Amino acid sequence: MKNTLIAPSVLAADFANLQRDIEMVNNSNADWFHIDIMDGVFVPNISFGMPVLEAITKHAQKTIDVHLMIVDPDRYIKTFADLGANNLAVHFEACTHLHRTLQAIKAEGMKAGVALNPHTNVALLEDVINDVDLVCLMSVNPGFGGQSFIENTYRKIRQLKEIIARNGASTLIEIDGGVNAQNAVALVEAGADVLVAGNFVFRAQNPTQTIAELKAMTSL
Ligand code: DX5
Ligand code: ZN
Repeated sequence: MKNTLIAPSVLAADFANLQRDIEMVNNSNADWFHIDIMDGVFVPNISFGMPVLEAITKHAQKTIDVHLMIVDPDRYIKTFADLGANNLAVHFEACTHLHRTLQAIKAEGMKAGVALNPHTNVALLEDVINDVDLVCLMSVNPGFGGQSFIENTYRKIRQLKEIIARNGASTLIEIDGGVNAQNAVALVEAGADVLVAGNFVFRAQNPTQTIAELKAMTSL
C-alpha cells in the first residue's frame, strides 16, 4: 500500500492563532509542515521569515519542509538548517549552480529539494536527479495560496517519474498548489508521493478531518 505524505501549507494558517494551528497539524494525520518563504523578488509576494519559522519549529513535531521562493538561496542555507528545517527546496529558476547548491544543503544535514515553476521542463533535472531527494512540482505559479490547479501537472509528474526510474533515483515527487479532494487521487495515481495543501486544509470547516480524508483517499 502506498503511503502518500500530506503536507499542510502553513501559509494558509491563521497567523494570529499560529500555535493552535500548529498543534492541529501535530495532532492530525499530516506528515510534514510545508513552509513557504517568499522574498518579494523571486515571486511577487512576501510571506514570512526567520522569526516566524523559529516560532513554528518551537511547536511543530513533524518534518519541516521548507520551500524557498527567493533569489540567491545559497546565502541562507545554513540559516535554515540552524532554524530546524529538515527539507530545503530551492527553485531551479533561482540557481545558477544547482549541483553546488544541492551539495551545500546536504552538507548542512538537510534533504535537498528542487522546486520547478509550471513552465520549467522536468527534463532539465535529468543530469542532477540522483542528487535530489525531493522535487517540488509547482501546480500553480508560486507566490500565492488559493490559486487553481494547472492540469498540465499530470504530464509533468509522469515524465518526472520516468526520469527518476531511468536513473535508479529515489527522489520523492511533491505537488504544490491547488491540491484538493478532487485531484488528490489522480495526482497519486500519476506518481505523486507528497501532496501540499494550504487553503483546502486550513479553510475547511474541520481541518483535522480534511487532512484525515486526504490521507485515507491517497493511501492506495
Ligand atoms: C504557493 C505556495 C504553496 C501554497 C499552496 O506559492 O508554494 O505552498 O501555500 O497553497 P494552496 O494549497 O492554497 O494552493
Ligand atoms: Zn510551497
